[in-house]
Amino acid sequence: MPTIVFASPKGGAGKSTSAVILATEIAARGATVTLIDADPNRPISRWASLPGVPETLTVVADVTEEGIIDVIEDAARRSAFVIVDLEGTASMMVGYAVSTADLVIVPTQGSTLDAAEAVRAIRLVRNMEKATRGASIPSAILFTRTSAAIRPRSLTAIAAEFAEHGVPVIATQMHEREAFRAVFAYGGSLADLDRSQVSNVDAALRNARAFAAEVVGMLPAAAAADAAAPARKVA
Ligand SMILES: Nc1ncnc2c1ncn2[C@@H]1O[C@H](COP(=O)(O)OP(=O)(O)OP(=O)(O)O)[C@@H](O)[C@H]1O
Ligand SMILES: [Mg+2]
Repeated sequence: MPTIVFASPKGGAGKSTSAVILATEIAARGATVTLIDADPNRPISRWASLPGVPETLTVVADVTEEGIIDVIEDAARRSAFVIVDLEGTASMMVGYAVSTADLVIVPTQGSTLDAAEAVRAIRLVRNMEKATRGASIPSAILFTRTSAAIRPRSLTAIAAEFAEHGVPVIATQMHEREAFRAVFAYGGSLADLDRSQVSNVDAALRNARAFAAEVVGMLPAAAAADAAAPARKVA
């Protein structure tokens, strides 16, 4: 079933945060999700060591460069969704993961310097398409850590530039929210957060739901049907 890969050579772009939020949001609908922690720094595994990992979500770590394609293919046979979090670098591992993807999400913060790094990630995807001589690998930019209150003109200009170059931009942004960070501190999903400890959880939940719905809508049609029908689980 479809594989969504988070990739960007820029460290701290928001890959791991967005991957966990997407995975927990899809799992909350009852679909099976395998979240592959392909970053040697193991951010996802640390999150998974805390309580509250959804029942339908499996985390796989200990992934090697030689093994990553097999690990992804195996997960895709077992789960309705596979989500891969990668290290903030350009490596063979990243290339292999991208080659298996049904969608590559490139998170970027909304500055011109960050956008340049996102362009490198998109180029890597386009090169992988050529290298594998296979079908196209859809990719899209995800703006992260943006303000929920204001949309600076620089962000609009960057988004327009991506569009001009035929690079899709995910309309939903992962805004700067304490709740997204808190999931890594307390474990589990946004819905499990203690509202007396963490501010604006409901706004973060709405943000996460809109993000997940948009991403699932970008996948092949069969995947969207799976997420919409939580009772139907793929063994
Ligand atoms: N939407 C968000 N709201 C608030 N904080 C965020 C958000 N996205 C990311 N962060 C914070 O930004 C920092 C970097 O995020 P994250 O670790 O997800 O990036 P990354 O791309 O996975 O980094 P790396 O390349 O090092 O793996 C973290 O401190 C994280 O808590
Ligand atoms: Mg990371």
